[in-house]
Amino acid sequence: MAKVIVIHGPNLNMLGLREPEIYGINTLKEINERLLEEANRLGLDIETFQTNGEGEIIDLIQSARQSSDALILNPGAYSHYSLAIRDAVSAAGLPTIEVHLSNIYSRERFRRKSVIAGVCLGQITGFGIDSYILALHAVSRLLGQAPPR
Ligand code: DQA
Repeated sequence: MAKVIVIHGPNLNMLGLREPEIYGINTLKEINERLLEEANRLGLDIETFQTNGEGEIIDLIQSARQSSDALILNPGAYSHYSLAIRDAVSAAGLPTIEVHLSNIYSRERFRRKSVIAGVCLGQITGFGIDSYILALHAVSRLLGQAPPR
């Protein structure tokens, strides 16, 4: 069974409490449960992580290189400036989809750029919890699993 790793970056542990008008009312636990449910439906093995640390995200990406077939990554604010995470994604060589709950292109100027997107297969931004689900569907097609019903 193909394995997908999902990494939620900084402050995403605060979902549900944090600016719900921007990020929605779902908690991270609920997002992970939805992802697990959808992964089961698609026949994918999934593991989810959240960390606030840039270095920890890099460590997770480095170990995913051996253990996973695809990566779904919400780098949070690191998206906008972490060249170290960009390099880790690039070095891992895993098919990677960058995900954002909010539409980063319709927000403050400093959020309108991702330094990581250029080394990802693609980016899904602005669909709330569905950004993750759409990313999982993209991964499923990519890894040649049955298309979603
Ligand atoms: C975010 C967008 C980032 O700009 C922000 O710093 C986050 C969340 C999103 O999912 O919409 O922490 O990545």
